Amino acid sequence: MNYKEAYEKLEKYGQLHVLKYYDELSEIEKGTLLKQIEELDFGILKYSKENTTNQKGEISPLAAMQLPEIEEHRKRYTEIGVEEIRKGKVAAVLLAGGMGTRLGSDHPKGMFDIGLTRPVYIFQRIIENMLDVVRQAGAWVHLFVMTSDKNHDMTVAFFEEKGYFGYSKDYIRFFIQDVVPASDYEGNVYMEERWKIATSPNGNGGWFSSMNKCGLLNIVREDGIEWINVFAVDNVLQRIADPCFVGATMDNGCVAGAKVVKKNSPDERVGALCLEDGRPSIVEYYELTDEMKMAKDADGNPAYDFGVILNYIFKTQTLVEIMDRQLPLHVVEKQIPYMDDTGRHIEPDVPNGYKYETLVLDMIHQVDTCLAYEVEREKEFAPIKNATGIDSVETARELCKENGILL
Ligand code: UTP
Repeated sequence: MNYKEAYEKLEKYGQLHVLKYYDELSEIEKGTLLKQIEELDFGILKYSKENTTNQKGEISPLAAMQLPEIEEHRKRYTEIGVEEIRKGKVAAVLLAGGMGTRLGSDHPKGMFDIGLTRPVYIFQRIIENMLDVVRQAGAWVHLFVMTSDKNHDMTVAFFEEKGYFGYSKDYIRFFIQDVVPASDYEGNVYMEERWKIATSPNGNGGWFSSMNKCGLLNIVREDGIEWINVFAVDNVLQRIADPCFVGATMDNGCVAGAKVVKKNSPDERVGALCLEDGRPSIVEYYELTDEMKMAKDADGNPAYDFGVILNYIFKTQTLVEIMDRQLPLHVVEKQIPYMDDTGRHIEPDVPNGYKYETLVLDMIHQVDTCLAYEVEREKEFAPIKNATGIDSVETARELCKENGILL
């Protein structure tokens, strides 16, 4: 992109301040800035004023496949899943591009050590769980790890240093998620340097299109991967490429599946899998009305009783079909480091603008069918979101101990 093209693009989105110092930049800096202007999507900045996320349709319950039913069919589902994994048709995508700000560490969240008598890193727990499936199926499962521009190098170096925790290096690939501009409250992008626009990772909803941009869909196609299990970094007990989950989703003719847990209270802060205008959808905990919290199903049980745990499986074909659709943008207040009018670098300690994210949970509303598949929360749900208290290192350690994991 040349200067004229950059000027026109910025003018269209009202962002000409980006070129304020252009004439003073070195040739390398000019090139870097022009490339950034070319690649970034400034169209999203209009959402600083318009909210795209609050327009839900009509919500109704979606019955989950619950534990007794799964138990009844476990053998058959597992056989179907194991066969599919053995044929190399199932891959996993680890979402590890988040900043993990709540945990208060500067490192990628997966590098956090929850061990007590030995090091037990979050990444290690994930790999150990995947190795169980590899042993069960007698085949490696492709693992794609999504990082962000901010944590990529550290993540890759860590896996390398730890010998991939015993996983086959040939089956682990890293890719960097896209970034979007970060702006002030009026939607004007912040500059980080005179030659650099402030950006932030685009949320976990862009994982499949980022995989595509990084050329990984070639591998998916060439290797005939038909199912992709996408999951969050922070649940240290979750089962990945779980054969029974894969088999149940396939056997029920669904194009997607979501692992869910029975909520421990109507107010628990997890999204509930439901129907929205007759299609699968997830309502966030803060979107549940009192009426919905009180609603009962035909058996008299709470109708919105199953929460998602960020572990979904999608048919690859469906992902390709929905890839170019715009997901709702979540506009999040954030502290954004920037350069002020005098050229000084500022690290704000209170929020000063917006970052723009899409979320994987919104992909569920794009698919025609999604199996809500219950898992036992004590065995499969140990999220680490906070340093202490609810969903913290302490609670996850407790749950690991209960499951016989040596820490
Ligand atoms: P969270 O919503 O918990 O966000 O991410 P976070 O950034 O990790 O943590 P906080 O809110 O700053 O404390 C859920 C999952 O999505 C991934 C995270 O790594 C985690 O696995 N994620 C999130 C991405 O991969 N990219 C993103 O841009 C955001």
